[in-house]
Amino acid sequence: MRERVVLKWGGGLITEKDQMKTVRTDVLDQLTDQLHACLEQGFEVILVHGAGSFGHLKAKQYKLADGLLPNVEFQPLSQRDAIEEVRNDMLELNQHVMDALTRRDISAVAIPPHQWAKGTGPDFEGDLTFFEQAPRGIVMVTFGDVVECDHPRQFGILSGDDIVKRLAAEIEGVNRLVFAMGGVEGVLASPPQDGEPMPELLSTLSSNDVFVGEHQSDMDVTGGIGLKVKRGFEALDSGIEVWLVSGEHGLRVQEACMGLPVTGTQLLKS
Ligand code: IPE
Repeated sequence: MRERVVLKWGGGLITEKDQMKTVRTDVLDQLTDQLHACLEQGFEVILVHGAGSFGHLKAKQYKLADGLLPNVEFQPLSQRDAIEEVRNDMLELNQHVMDALTRRDISAVAIPPHQWAKGTGPDFEGDLTFFEQAPRGIVMVTFGDVVECDHPRQFGILSGDDIVKRLAAEIEGVNRLVFAMGGVEGVLASPPQDGEPMPELLSTLSSNDVFVGEHQSDMDVTGGIGLKVKRGFEALDSGIEVWLVSGEHGLRVQEACMGLPVTGTQLLKS
């Protein structure tokens, strides 16, 4: 059986995170070239992308991760209208991703979570068989999104990090989960600080190592690198390799996907 890889392109990698709805097209093209190389080598890839500035800023403004807040008055939009906007913004970002894949002649099919998933966190409900049954060579694509939830929350934010965990654990034949990130080369020994030298890159991290992740809660409605590490450790239980690498340096994403030696952080069982 061919090797199968679940790949997450972080929203902070493919967008300018603090500039509303700004795509990093050069990065997207670089990443797509690397994805193409993986497909050429016979790897099957399932692609999940994050939101960056197409999701977090507005979701934060309207507290969409907290669910319905009937006693709070939001301006200028209601939470329901904000959901529609964020979903449309995510479809727009997804279209940039699909266009980049098309520019590289990659055949891909996108399935937005608000159409097939319900609930948030790693135990969200949603049938993954579309991903499993994709024809050979077709890249199935999905992304972090605003999804329906049970009463009383009614809606919430499903992170791509939760999606990749389930895909890696439940889809037949997945060998590897790779998180491609912006701004960091992997997991650092401590959170980076402005004006300070970059802390040491940890080449491995095991679940009993102490790890303090930076979480930009002023911008981020999901969990930053801490959530990737947490979901990554959970995915290890399915016997796959988990890597966190930079999507901004060389060919690290493709090297990680292919199981070649790479600069980054490998998660290990303790
Ligand atoms: C967040 O998804 C989705 C929305 C804010 C709508 P992710 O958690 O996968 O996004 P990134 O990778 O942090 O941007």
